[in-house]
Amino acid sequence: MDGAAELLFYVNGRKVIEKNVDPETMLLPYLRKKLRLTGTKYGCGGGGCGACTVMISRYDPVTKRIRHYPANACLMPICSVYGAAVTTVEGIGSTRTRIHPVQERIARCHGTQCGFCTPGMVMSIYTLLRNHPDPTLDQLTDALGGNLCRCTGYRPIVDACKTFCNTSGCCQSKENGVCCLNQGINGFPELEEGNKTSSKLFSEEEFLPLDPTQELIFPPELMIMAEKQPPRTRVFAGERMMWISPVTLKELLEAKAKYPQAPVIMGNTSTGPEVKFKGVFHPVIISPDRIEELNVVNSANNGLTLGAGLSLAQVKDTLAAVVLKLPEERTQTYRALLKQLGTLAGAQIRNMASLGGHIVSRHVDSDLNPLLAVGGCTLNLLSKEGARQIPVNEQFLRKCPSADLKPEEILISVNIPYSRKWEFVSAFRQAQRQQNALAIVNSGMRVFFGEGDGIIRELSISYGGVGPTTICAQNSCQKLIGRPWNEEMLDAACRLVLDEVSLPGSAPGGKVEFKRTLIISFLFKFYLEVLRLLRRMDPVHYPSLADKHESALEDFHPRHRQSARKYQKVDPKQPPQDPVGHPIMHLSGIKHATGEAIYCDDMPAMDGELFLAFVTSSRAHAKIVSIDVSEALSLPGVVDVLAEEHLQGVNSFCLLGQPEKLLESEMVFCVGQLVCAVIANSEIQARRAAKQVKIVYQDLEPVILTIEEAIQHKSFFEPERKLEYGNVDEAFKVVDHIVEGEIHLGGQEHFYMETQSMLAVPKGEDQEMDVYVSTQHPKGIQDIVASVLKLPANKVMCHVKRVGGAFGGKAFKTGVMAAITAFAANKHGRAVRCILERGEDMLITAGRHPYLGKYKAGFTKDGRILALDMEHYGNGGASLDESLFVLEMGILKLDNAYKFPNLRCRGWACRTNLPSNTALRGFGFPQAGLITEACITDVAAKCGLSPEKVRMINMYKEIDQTHYKQEINAKNLIQCWRECMAMSSYSLRKAAVEKFNSENFWKKKGLAMVPVKFPIGLGSRAAGQAAALVHIYLDGSVLVTHGGIEMGQGVHTKMIQVASRELRMPLSNVHLRGTSTETVPNANASGGSVVADLNGLAVKDACQTLLKRLEPIISKNPRGTWKDWAQAAFDESISLSATGYFRGYESNMNWETGEGHPFEYFVYGAACSEVEIDCLTGAHKNIRTDIVMDVGCSINPALDIGQIEGAFIQGMGLYTIEELNYSPQGVLYTRGPDQYKIPTICDIPTEFHVSFLPPSQDSNTLYSSKGLGESGIFLGCSVFFAIHDAVSAARQERGLRGPLKLNSPLTPEKIRMACEDKFTKMIPRDKPGSCVPWNIPI
Ligand SMILES: Cc1cc2nc3c(=O)[nH]c(=O)nc-3n(C[C@H](O)[C@H](O)[C@H](O)COP(=O)(O)OP(=O)(O)OC[C@H]3O[C@@H](n4cnc5c(N)ncnc54)[C@H](O)[C@@H]3O)c2cc1C
Ligand code: FES
Ligand code: FES
Repeated sequence: MDGAAELLFYVNGRKVIEKNVDPETMLLPYLRKKLRLTGTKYGCGGGGCGACTVMISRYDPVTKRIRHYPANACLMPICSVYGAAVTTVEGIGSTRTRIHPVQERIARCHGTQCGFCTPGMVMSIYTLLRNHPDPTLDQLTDALGGNLCRCTGYRPIVDACKTFCNTSGCCQSKENGVCCLNQGINGFPELEEGNKTSSKLFSEEEFLPLDPTQELIFPPELMIMAEKQPPRTRVFAGERMMWISPVTLKELLEAKAKYPQAPVIMGNTSTGPEVKFKGVFHPVIISPDRIEELNVVNSANNGLTLGAGLSLAQVKDTLAAVVLKLPEERTQTYRALLKQLGTLAGAQIRNMASLGGHIVSRHVDSDLNPLLAVGGCTLNLLSKEGARQIPVNEQFLRKCPSADLKPEEILISVNIPYSRKWEFVSAFRQAQRQQNALAIVNSGMRVFFGEGDGIIRELSISYGGVGPTTICAQNSCQKLIGRPWNEEMLDAACRLVLDEVSLPGSAPGGKVEFKRTLIISFLFKFYLEVLRLLRRMDPVHYPSLADKHESALEDFHPRHRQSARKYQKVDPKQPPQDPVGHPIMHLSGIKHATGEAIYCDDMPAMDGELFLAFVTSSRAHAKIVSIDVSEALSLPGVVDVLAEEHLQGVNSFCLLGQPEKLLESEMVFCVGQLVCAVIANSEIQARRAAKQVKIVYQDLEPVILTIEEAIQHKSFFEPERKLEYGNVDEAFKVVDHIVEGEIHLGGQEHFYMETQSMLAVPKGEDQEMDVYVSTQHPKGIQDIVASVLKLPANKVMCHVKRVGGAFGGKAFKTGVMAAITAFAANKHGRAVRCILERGEDMLITAGRHPYLGKYKAGFTKDGRILALDMEHYGNGGASLDESLFVLEMGILKLDNAYKFPNLRCRGWACRTNLPSNTALRGFGFPQAGLITEACITDVAAKCGLSPEKVRMINMYKEIDQTHYKQEINAKNLIQCWRECMAMSSYSLRKAAVEKFNSENFWKKKGLAMVPVKFPIGLGSRAAGQAAALVHIYLDGSVLVTHGGIEMGQGVHTKMIQVASRELRMPLSNVHLRGTSTETVPNANASGGSVVADLNGLAVKDACQTLLKRLEPIISKNPRGTWKDWAQAAFDESISLSATGYFRGYESNMNWETGEGHPFEYFVYGAACSEVEIDCLTGAHKNIRTDIVMDVGCSINPALDIGQIEGAFIQGMGLYTIEELNYSPQGVLYTRGPDQYKIPTICDIPTEFHVSFLPPSQDSNTLYSSKGLGESGIFLGCSVFFAIHDAVSAARQERGLRGPLKLNSPLTPEKIRMACEDKFTKMIPRDKPGSCVPWNIPI
């Protein structure tokens, strides 16, 4: 062994030698903090988001090849990069040198909004291109499967990818000989306005060409090192951990014999998350480096032998090559493995994770182990004692000591036998999301008939996800041997397996009945698959499958993605310099893509900076008996622990009428409540110490978690809110029918990619404090910090450069945390940084309010709703926050696009023992709107009409009045609806869907169209005021500042467009540095879709003031430059700086009289979505979405389309897959991307079309534009109702009548369980109350 080894690797072509490396350090913090390469971002720390993607390149001296692969730097131990070349986003291009085509195209195709995910996206695409300079679109989208984006909705990123494919522009599939871009049922028909619209958001001709010869070369030194360096074990010793890297098998075995308990780290994708999230600690780690024997690929007579050290990506490539070469009957197991590898994690994890690590980890949800078990695979083990083989069987998977590896043994390789004639192997899995999500249940199944008589000779079935380990249904299989492959056998098999693989009602992970159903649904699929294969082999003896069953077999195939957009062309008379109306790229787009855009945590450390970590309550409702901080304080580097006692007199802050405590030391009201804050010299020290704070609780009753419990306990924040219009009770007397129903909506996590981040810096003079923070509300932060520090506001300045996504979640709670951070900074006279980890962030900050909506509708036979009585209940959590405001907005907006002549709605904000819910994009509307649409769907079902018909009948027409008596002109609403009907070929496709459904029993399609009328307004004029400050410098350049926050929506870009138009100067002359309370005081929070609207009017005002002052000078020298004019103005003592102001829109609402004018205008739109569902698994596929929006006159169509699409995908996530899980004790389980699934690139509709109505004028708004940030969220429910439509079709065919009650999100579980069939009837059901479930519906 080589004692104190030096860690040597390259980063972006530069050699790095680390002499005192701490093996506990991961590559991500090393890059960010040590090398100051902050382009690589932290989003989750667990490999689940892709924000930290880098490219790793290694030279293999045996094959003489360089392998480039994407990796999650957050899970890469720094010691594992020895001898590798790391490329980060900074290494491929920058604005200072040259930008890389990938960076350029993602930016110019408008694939960045907040930009926080962008460096990761860039690196995933870049790495693919290094390996495949001419990739297919499928390869590109597959490469991005491990990268999450919360803003864009992915479509523009796909567009950027397309520019690297030969197939750019058209899908090339030419189905039925017709080009996809042609009009028709699958096309994007020309709208009437034809030549007044444009569809190009970028110009491909201007793109830099991709030139692979220009890329960074692999460092020759590393190549020589790999070739020449004598192999010897390297050891890196840190404070607490030793890292041993053997380079020969002999040394590996010796190390393992010496440290048998040390894990063998390969990809660290299993051990890493355990260390990080479960607190597991390994004092010694063994990490083999380039040991040939671990990387073998051998084919022998009986099968393949694959080295345990091969990555899952290498396994995938190897199997794909073998499958191409060998006959199908020999590769059954390989094909099944390939199927699972196609959806297993993202590309980064597949490239890091090793086959050996996967097998030995034996995760309950392993996708490969069930197959390796049924495939008869064996493991080749080696230790100093010698070699042996063990089978991958039930005992091994259960970790029985007799069948397990011995501590000193190493898994060298895996034998995967070829399959035989008459042998069939299949793989199944169902997850919350189709790709990059751990399976809820997966399975491997194999049958061997020996010969063609169809009698079972061998049968193996394994399941993952249904017990603590992979489970093999051995007994069931044994009992079925000798039986023919027929329906009786299937029936018996289902019963046997359900009995053997029994799942208790309280099983971890929940979804128990769904899992039971999947167990036998997969079995049914296997039965059919084998029947089909038997028939293919022997058509004479085996009948073809009944038509009805064919559809059970087809998987959802990825189809080439198509998208199109149509937006308004600018008026040809508009001056060419005027950028308003043009699809200008996001101001920071290129910087997002190069990693140069600075976010809060990218700021360099200040001298003597400290880190703050919070300690939060672990109980939902309890008295705090004691808090013991002594152990935490005794740990190295710990400076202080702040608790309530330190904040005497300043521990509360009043936001919306009710004071809230910052830190709580007496009573806690939810899990996740802030109790104290540990301050230490480093992040690691602070987090370690936070875990040592001991809190003793005394639990209190009641613990109210659900809305139903809140109703039972009458636990509401305030008396009901109520609005009544017309005479509801009288109207009910004259209607033909009445339906009553209810719908429950789960909450939603903001999942902004940048977690809560803040840095408080005491200035050391006059008690001044600067707070750099990722917030939507700098003034709010300033106020609360000033109050906690007992300072006037003029001593506290809050600065926001940009925010990596906010969606409503970075206001009040950010303020509380910033105040505590600033308090710590003030107390110690040192800068203090606080960055939440993803799990903490999700726990503390909560999100969208779960809702219960009850409705009673009275209507005529033809579907006209005359009376509507509604109740809304929002789960507000433990403190008021914005719950009441959200509830009020829900009540005001519940009419959506409909005129209900008699309407009553009452609403309650429920006080529960959950973290306090808050604002989230849409602010009450997504919940209220869905309740209304659910009611309409029920009405339609009762009338025997399509929901679209009932929607149209009840829609506002022309001039009308809302239920709060505000006038509305619905002309554009109707126009959006009609355009959407036409654009989506609704009638044709409705008929096509019906035809499909009549021909397919196990797959159903659904089509739904919903309108939206989204009111814009903030409830008061004061809330809508905005200010700006514009300076002209003597060189003619302009600096614009305003009160709005750039959080991805592109407000700064629009503001520069405004300044450019008003001052009649090129965009390049105008700059914007960020937002600060120092330049624009008292700014309102950014949100509510109006940030550009309001601030734009203020910028316009400032520019007009300046122009007015300068006009005499300009007219004196009309051919002069801005430099000339500025100098002339200066010489004449004319001020070149002006503030601009907008008072806010008139807005009022009287809740007593139920009348008002709360909104300035309405955004109209409509969306039509088509889906296909798999009735056996609950999976769904988004086939196509068409959206038509009335945007007024768009200031920037690229940004506006981005807002609509991004919001739509976020809404689609809300209504379909985003599911929060809480324990019965109120503990949030879903604390990261592994548990909480937001849409990925694979979830977007295969066809996605967005179109704008022709421009419409509105004199009150900024250049007649409309705010589009939120309205698209609701349109995501078109997918919900399309699924609803598909489920209805399935139920009708199965003879199930009666109302269909489907709650949101409409997850695979809900879809499957609603498609009742013989399998759902077969499963055992638990009697209510017979067990404590793992989770409860909130
Ligand atoms: C974000 C994310 C998503 C994922 N998604 C999926 C998914 O969809 N489906 C799925 O099936 N899995 C998924 N996984 C799990 C992943 O497949 C495993 O973590 C991975 O295969 C483990 O391999 P590794 O090389 O990283 O193991 P490591 O973490 O390096 O090691 C894991 C364990 O294996 C032991 N070990 C490793 N190699 C050997 C050897 N040669 N001999 C003896 N012991 C050894 C180690 O001692 C250690 O205890 C996901 C993981 C992450 C982080
Ligand atoms: S930060 Fe590494 S994957 Fe999320
Ligand atoms: S742009 Fe992708 S997360 Fe914001």
